[in-house]
Amino acid sequence: MPQTSPVVLLTGASRGLGAAAAREAARRGAHLVLNARRAGLLENVAAACRAEGVIVHTVPGDIGEEATAQRMVAVAAEAFGRIDALIHNAGVLPPIAPLARANLQAWEANWRVNFFAAVALLRHGLPLLRVSRGRVVLVSSGAAIHAYPTWGAYCSAKAALNHLAAVLAAEEPDITALAFRPGIVDTDMQADIRTQGAGVMPPDLHAKFLAYRREGRLQPPAVVARPLITLALHAPHTWSGRFVAYYDEEVQQLVAKTTPEA
Ligand SMILES: NC(=O)c1ccc[n+]([C@@H]2O[C@H](COP(=O)([O-])OP(=O)(O)OC[C@H]3O[C@@H](n4cnc5c(N)ncnc54)[C@H](OP(=O)(O)O)[C@@H]3O)[C@@H](O)[C@H]2O)c1
Repeated sequence: MPQTSPVVLLTGASRGLGAAAAREAARRGAHLVLNARRAGLLENVAAACRAEGVIVHTVPGDIGEEATAQRMVAVAAEAFGRIDALIHNAGVLPPIAPLARANLQAWEANWRVNFFAAVALLRHGLPLLRVSRGRVVLVSSGAAIHAYPTWGAYCSAKAALNHLAAVLAAEEPDITALAFRPGIVDTDMQADIRTQGAGVMPPDLHAKFLAYRREGRLQPPAVVARPLITLALHAPHTWSGRFVAYYDEEVQQLVAKTTPEA
């Protein structure tokens, strides 16, 4: 493996979009530090990545705890001495409930994973990201800009994540910071919306998510992983601070220009 292999930190890598993103990054020769809570699933993903010839370290644990973020950075520092890209992909939807019945502990748990984990990763990772003039991609959602009733915690945390990317761009001129909209992806999160959202979400909103699946509109994780990893490795600095979608034409052009043949 050439010494110039980029080093990528990725949260939520045990399944869904994060697992596909880990494999895509490995296919492109990136060394990895991977996190998720389920150590067994995470190890399976790591093994698949190592088969591409890259070095992979796993940091199992709750990314809602600052110590987990700190450990990811420490592992990267010790193993590679650098971080080229940081992708905060771990995310959780619950609580699904109207504001009038908000459970503050459940909101805090949601924000710890969706939002505060990103703050902790930046707090500890910025010194190395500055040295490499690295990239940060915060995986956001259409819910950041669309107000879905009963999704208050998720919508507001993702909106905050978008603004965090903008603040990061304003504070750190050497870093390229983006919030990323993955569209609708065929993962456990979508399955959870279909099951756990029934009878809780407004019926028309829940029906919309059932229809996405019925009409075959969910993207395979591997399809969305390509633009995600493209942005983490190649996003132009002039885009820093923006919220970009996987299907944006300029993103797809960058994918076409930088992705090796499968
Ligand atoms: N699927 C979609 O349609 C969609 C749409 C818009 C945005 N997104 C966003 O895309 C990202 C990935 O979503 P997905 O659909 O792949 O979700 P998913 O299938 O539910 O997977 C979520 C990932 O996050 C990890 N995770 C959850 N809580 C964690 C915690 N406390 N600490 C560490 N890891 C944790 C999970 O692993 P463990 O359970 O092993 O911890 C898993 O690897 C999320 O940020 C989500 O909000 C998804």
